[in-house]
Amino acid sequence: MTVIDDLTSALGPGAVLTEPDDLAAYSTDWRGAGSGRPHCVVRPSATAEVATAVRLCHEAGVAVVPHGGGTGLSGGALPDDSGTQVVLSLARMRRVREVDAAGDTLTVDAGVVLADVQAAAEAVDRLFPLSLASEGSCTIGGNLATNAGGTAVLRYGMARELVLGLEVVLADGRVWDGLRPLRKDNTGYDLTQLFCGSEGTLGIITAATLRLFPATPRHATAWLALPSVEAAVSLLGQVRARAGQSLAAYELVSREALDTVLRHVPGARDPFGERHDWYALVELSGATDDEGLEPALEAALTAGFEASLVTDAVVAGSPTQRESLWLLREGISEAQNHDGASLKHDVSVPVALLPDLLADTAGRLEAVLPGVRLVTYGHVGDGNVHHNLAAALDGGSDDDLRAAAGDLADAIYDAVAERGGSISAEHGLGTAKRDANAARTDPVELDLMRSIKQALDPDGLMNPGKVLPPR
Ligand code: FAD
Ligand code: MLT
Ligand code: ZN
Repeated sequence: MTVIDDLTSALGPGAVLTEPDDLAAYSTDWRGAGSGRPHCVVRPSATAEVATAVRLCHEAGVAVVPHGGGTGLSGGALPDDSGTQVVLSLARMRRVREVDAAGDTLTVDAGVVLADVQAAAEAVDRLFPLSLASEGSCTIGGNLATNAGGTAVLRYGMARELVLGLEVVLADGRVWDGLRPLRKDNTGYDLTQLFCGSEGTLGIITAATLRLFPATPRHATAWLALPSVEAAVSLLGQVRARAGQSLAAYELVSREALDTVLRHVPGARDPFGERHDWYALVELSGATDDEGLEPALEAALTAGFEASLVTDAVVAGSPTQRESLWLLREGISEAQNHDGASLKHDVSVPVALLPDLLADTAGRLEAVLPGVRLVTYGHVGDGNVHHNLAAALDGGSDDDLRAAAGDLADAIYDAVAERGGSISAEHGLGTAKRDANAARTDPVELDLMRSIKQALDPDGLMNPGKVLPPR
C-alpha cells in the first residue's frame, strides 16, 4: 500500500487529491512564485482525520506540509520539488466551535478564514483585531503558524498576542488539547506560544481559542502627505500623545508604492492634486461617539502642520471615503503582482532608526543595481517596513533584478543587522529567508531552535526544510 492508498482508505477518496490539475494550486504560492511538487493533497474535515492522516504519513516516513489559505509570502506552505511530500490542507476545517461573549473568547477550527473569524466576533458585538490585506483568503491556523502582523499590531499586538489556547496534531499523530480559555495560566512551559510562529514545523494547529476585544465601530481616519520618513516618525509621537490607546493604525506609503496602486487597482484615486514623497494612513478607533476621536486627530494634525511634519491631509468624511483611503494602502501587494517581478523584504528596526535605515539602504541598493525601484511601505508604527524591490519602469529588466537578488538582499540585511533589526518582521522565514536568517543568527539561538525541533519532530517529517536549514 502506498501512503495515497492509506490516506484514501482512511479518509475517503474525496479527501485526497492526486490529479495534476488539482495539485497545481499547491505547487506555487499566491504570487505564482516557487515550484513545489506535492505527492498528493489530503483535506481532512476534523481533528481526528488530521491526526489519522499525520499518523499514516509518520508510519510511512512521509513528510507533511501544512497548508492554510496559501497566502504566505515566504514559501512555507509549498512542498519541495521531490514529489514525495504530502500537503495537508485545512480548507475543510471551517467550523466556529464556540463563541463566549461573556468571557470574550472565540474557539474556531484552524481552517476558518480570517474574515470569517472577524465576522463571528462582530456577530456578538466584539472585535477580533487581526487585520491583513489577505484576510479574505488566509486562515487563522496560517495566521498563528506565521505569527502574522498586519495593520492593527500597534494597538493589539501580533497574532500570538491574540490567542489563549491551541489544539495541535503532533508529528506522530497524537493530539495535544491545549484549548484553554484562561487569561492566567502559569502551569509550566507555554506550549501555545511555542507553536505560534513555528510555520508548521512543530505540529499542525487544528483549532484555536482566541481573545476578543470591545467592538470599535467609530473611526477617525486621515491620509496625510509627509515631507520625509523623519516626519512620519515624529508625527507618530504627536498622534500618540493626543490619541493614546485609540491609535489603531499608523501606516507609511512611499510615492512609488502609491503609484503602483494607482496604476493597477481599479477605483484607486490620489486624494491630492500634487505629488508628495511620503504618505501616512492614520486611524483612531473607539467604541462610542464620546471618545473624542475627531478632536484628537484634528489636534494631532494641527500640531503636525505647525511643526511642518504634515504637508497636506484629507480626513475621511464617510465610511466609503475611509474605505477608499484604506484601498491606497491595502491595494499595494495586489498591485505589485501586476507590475512585474518583485523581491519581497520585510524588515524591522526600533522605530526611531527607521529614517536612517531607509536612507542608508537606498544608497546601498542603488550601488548594487542602479535604478532599482524601492516600493517601500508598511507598518511604520511597529518599526516594520516592506522594502519590495522592482525593476526600473524605463529600461529596467526583471532578469537583471533577479540576477542581483542575492546582493540586493545582502545590502538590506546588512543595513538591518547594523541597527539590531530583524530580516523577517512578520512574514516568517519559510524557505525564502531561512538561510539568510541562519547566517545572521547566534549559533546558540539556532542550537536551541534545533533542540526544540528535534524534541517535537525527531524524524524531521513536519514541514522539513522550512525555518531551519538542513544540517
Ligand atoms: P499559508 O500560506 O497556507 O501557510 C503559511 C505557513 O503556515 C506555512 O509554513 C504553512 O505550512 C503554515 N501553516 C498554515 N496553516 C497551518 C496550520 N493550521 N498549522 C500549522 N502550520 C500551518 N502577513 C503579515 O504578517 N502581515 C500583513 O500585513 C500581510 N499582508 C498580506 C497581504 C497580502 C495581499 C498577502 C497575499 C499576504 C499578506 N501577508 C501578511 C502574508 C500572509 O497572509 C500571512 O502570512 C498569513 O498569516 C498566512 O496565512 P495562510 O492561511 O494563507 O497560511
Ligand atoms: C502588507 O503589509 O501589505 C504585506 O505584509 C506586505 C507584502 O505583501 O509584502
Ligand atoms: Zn505587512
